[in-house]
Amino acid sequence: MTERRFPNGFLWATASAAHQVEGDNRNNDWWEFEQQPGHIRNGDVSGIACDNYHRYREDFQLLRELNNNAHRLSVEWSRIEPSEGEFDSRQLRHYRDVLGELREQGLPPMVTLHHFTSPLWFTRRGGWAAPGSADAFLRFVRRAGDELGDLVSWWCTINEPCIYAYHGWLKGEFPPGRKGDLPGMYRVLANMRQAHERAYRLLKQRWPDIPVGLAHNKYLMLPADPRKRRHRLAAAAAQGVMDRWPIGPGRLQRLYDASCDYIGINHYSGELVAFDPRRPNEQFMRHFNPPHLTVSEFGYAVNPPWMREVLNEVRARGKPVYITENGIAASDDATRSQYLRDILEQVLLGIADGVDVRGYFHWTDTDNFEWGKGYSLKFGLIEVDRKTLERTVKPSGRQFARIAQANTLVD
Ligand code: FCB
Repeated sequence: MTERRFPNGFLWATASAAHQVEGDNRNNDWWEFEQQPGHIRNGDVSGIACDNYHRYREDFQLLRELNNNAHRLSVEWSRIEPSEGEFDSRQLRHYRDVLGELREQGLPPMVTLHHFTSPLWFTRRGGWAAPGSADAFLRFVRRAGDELGDLVSWWCTINEPCIYAYHGWLKGEFPPGRKGDLPGMYRVLANMRQAHERAYRLLKQRWPDIPVGLAHNKYLMLPADPRKRRHRLAAAAAQGVMDRWPIGPGRLQRLYDASCDYIGINHYSGELVAFDPRRPNEQFMRHFNPPHLTVSEFGYAVNPPWMREVLNEVRARGKPVYITENGIAASDDATRSQYLRDILEQVLLGIADGVDVRGYFHWTDTDNFEWGKGYSLKFGLIEVDRKTLERTVKPSGRQFARIAQANTLVD
């Protein structure tokens, strides 16, 4: 049997993103996108979200009660820099309060600088697909770095560049809602790559001791039949698109090979890929869920052993690894509890394999605005009543607390 204890100092945390929880983020591209019919399931809008902008103290208090010892969150660029080059000192003070509160509650913060949302002034001039986007982002990074850095424990520059570019420029499910714009998608990724590399250098210069990384969504693309070369090649090509920066020095470098002090992995799921000559418009590929697996309410295949595979893939990099996101969309909380146990079992196996996993950030603390799916999906350890915004810890939250307290996978 594997050792069920986690390494000393292991981080037990949750992750969230400003737009999904704060409420009233009117000045960014997501807010605008939500107002247009057909974009969000059930016509939902983020609205007041969890009102975490005002209720952060009680939310952090709950996390502390649940024995969390860190927290990942994002700061909202559109609040801090509401118009180009103009920084709002009140909002900077607000985030100083938020980060200060986290530290006081014993929850050292991992701060994400870009988690899917951008200010309207930025998207109106072409957003991440436009030349100069990295310069604009860097100006924000410099200011946020200067004003907040003394309170930050880890920087996470950009959340899931590939998912962001793919949904915004290929699938049309994120703003700017473009479909099939492959060149646009590659421009976005190239600009984000440049932005990350420059942000890394800038933050290291300013705060040499704070680890900097990014969060990569490691979504597995597996051959439909591993014995068949054509399926292996198709899966490898699909995985390559997900995992690699397309353009720039060290072309086709993996995302987690970017300049970083730790590797941040968001892992939820994967799928099978088959070569299919009848699908020229889909790069001759067919993607589908493995038929024998259950599927989450998000539509993702549920297969905890993939977590161990993912961890082993990054082992050779020899860097500390944080699971910066993992969780399951489940209205039935017992499903989440089971998933949590199964995933942590795999994390332990990964650690036993020699992967230097330093922490697990569960997605997420409070049920929140799940982008294009609105409020229909429940990822939280804590329920939020949509009418009263009252918080109720779910059994899975209590289970998380017991595991965190024991630093051991207890039943
Ligand atoms: C990730 C996002 C996060 C949340 C989860 C479910 O891709 O980073 O904001 O939507 O999925």
